[in-house]
Amino acid sequence: MSDPIILITGGNSGIGKAAAIKFASQGAKVLIAVRNPERGKEAISDIRKKSESNTSSMLTMDLSSMNSIRAACEEFQKTNTRLDCLIHNAADFDIGRKMPEYSEDGIEKIWATNHLGPVRLTKLLEKELARSDKGRIITIASKGLMVHPFLKVRMDDPEFKKGGYSVEKAYYQSKLAQIMYTYWLAEKYQKTSITANCIRVTNVRIDISRYPNISPIAKKLYAWKSKYSISPPQMAEVYVWLATSPEARKYSGEYFDEKCRKVSSGKYSKDPKNIHELMEITGKYIPELLLEK
Ligand SMILES: NC(=O)c1ccc[n+]([C@@H]2O[C@H](COP(=O)([O-])OP(=O)(O)OC[C@H]3O[C@@H](n4cnc5c(N)ncnc54)[C@H](OP(=O)(O)O)[C@@H]3O)[C@@H](O)[C@H]2O)c1
Repeated sequence: MSDPIILITGGNSGIGKAAAIKFASQGAKVLIAVRNPERGKEAISDIRKKSESNTSSMLTMDLSSMNSIRAACEEFQKTNTRLDCLIHNAADFDIGRKMPEYSEDGIEKIWATNHLGPVRLTKLLEKELARSDKGRIITIASKGLMVHPFLKVRMDDPEFKKGGYSVEKAYYQSKLAQIMYTYWLAEKYQKTSITANCIRVTNVRIDISRYPNISPIAKKLYAWKSKYSISPPQMAEVYVWLATSPEARKYSGEYFDEKCRKVSSGKYSKDPKNIHELMEITGKYIPELLLEK
């Protein structure tokens, strides 16, 4: 197969950008999907410089907006007939947010961006993934879920319309949903060449200047936490391994840590009944999924 075509969301910062640099250095054609074109252009210039390669480009895509995802996919399809790897790396985790915010589609933003966005994007690029020799889908969850062993998806109220909202709860719910969605995808594509796996991201240093509204205490907490965190390029190694290594081709429906080891996501997330229920409620937002039956 020729050099892989890789699409990574949120490739303008942090782990996504570090992974994009590594992919481009290896000669892959990498597209970063970004919601802000200015930040995207800056990132592309940096990725090209650091990778010493011109194989990266940008797609504008706001994952919280159904129209924006559709438009970006149409743009992608104008010049690409196949996609070898789709990495759902972007996530909304605005730690300074006190109240729920809503997308232009009127959906709570974290649920829209971190769960519904990836589901819609995969669905729209399904044909291109199927045209690859081995289309790989990679979703991203969080080691922080281990601190919430009894967490469940609020099947009757994923948008916290009945109250009880916090950014943490909404974020971890969305990450749990992504793990369950990965198992659903792996099962769905079982008899095809497409695979789906999830990465459990550990504590990775973040650029705290991206969150100007957080309290001085939270800033101090993050400064302390960063001492025990790995760097974005270190975490990006797992992305590269899962996206491009021949060894990782054999896996589907697995959950990997920062050392590329298989880890368990817990009983609740693996229960087929819970996965079915999650995808039923997801299908209410994305009717194309319900039509698949
Ligand atoms: N860092 C950690 O310790 C940690 C721990 C566990 C899991 N993770 C996961 O690892 C992944 C990467 O995180 P990171 O540490 O690299 O964080 P980051 O630097 O904040 O990257 C997040 C990316 O998501 C993008 N994004 C947010 N909302 C979006 C939207 N509506 N549409 C399109 N893009 C959007 C951001 O774009 P803008 O630049 O426009 O904001 C940014 O590029 C995320 O899935 C995160 O949940 C990170």
